[in-house]
Amino acid sequence: MNATAAVAAAVVPAAGRGERLGPGAPKALRELGGVPLLVHAVRALARSRAVGLVVVAAPAAGVAEVVALLDSHGLDGKDIRVVAGGETRQESVRLGLAAIPAEVEIVLVHDAARPLVPVEVVDAVAAAVRAGAEAVVPAVPLADTVKRVEPNPGGPEPVLDTPDRATLRAVQTPQGFRRATLAEVHAKALTEEAEGGLPPVTDDAGLVERFGGRVVVVPGHEEAFKVTRPLDLVLAEAVLARRRASDGF
Ligand code: CTP
Ligand code: MG
Repeated sequence: MNATAAVAAAVVPAAGRGERLGPGAPKALRELGGVPLLVHAVRALARSRAVGLVVVAAPAAGVAEVVALLDSHGLDGKDIRVVAGGETRQESVRLGLAAIPAEVEIVLVHDAARPLVPVEVVDAVAAAVRAGAEAVVPAVPLADTVKRVEPNPGGPEPVLDTPDRATLRAVQTPQGFRRATLAEVHAKALTEEAEGGLPPVTDDAGLVERFGGRVVVVPGHEEAFKVTRPLDLVLAEAVLARRRASDGF
């Protein structure tokens, strides 16, 4: 294994609109503590010694803007590239993955919408892949009891059952993969989609599962939550303020 192969590359899907966050700029460009979510997320990855390259999948119409944004926030210490993302998260990841040099053997995929992931989580995921896992997801136990329902938006929804909470995990990113595994499942999913098969997945490990691969969970972190709804941004501001107060970050 050469030096390049031992270092992971990270793909950051950042091309979503952020509809659940409400009107405004694309979510990845919305600010947290005066800095775009995407910049926080890229910094969190760049802080890990395991990561040598970061490829951002930006909104297709915003590639130049994202390049300028990353430059203006002084992220030129590491190799950071920007490509145009796609219509779905899955497509954005596939396009990002295509920009990673062939010799890179470990790939992490991290949502731009998870700006506060601690570097320890990034390191732990990369280490688990390096130690031999083909797909690794950080996850946390659920606080709420979960019920499966018959969806009926706006009306009462009949409950089907209540899975045992002890067996459930809420999964986060970065998710880590042998590069060959991730590339293979994305290629298979593309073929399947073209044949009218299953819909896109919302996480990459889901694709590995779909095609029979083995996925393992490692401990995630409560601060790796995804900014999805307006309240998440309030929480993120509070976490950032606490960090800044405690370590001048
Ligand atoms: N994403 C992407 N390309 C898409 C859709 C999503 O790169 N076509 C990215 C988002 O930018 C985000 C991550 O995937 O960093 C997780 O997706 P999500 O939280 O669903 O973000 P959005 O799709 O932007 O939000 P929403 O679903 O509320 O519109
Ligand atoms: Mg989405």
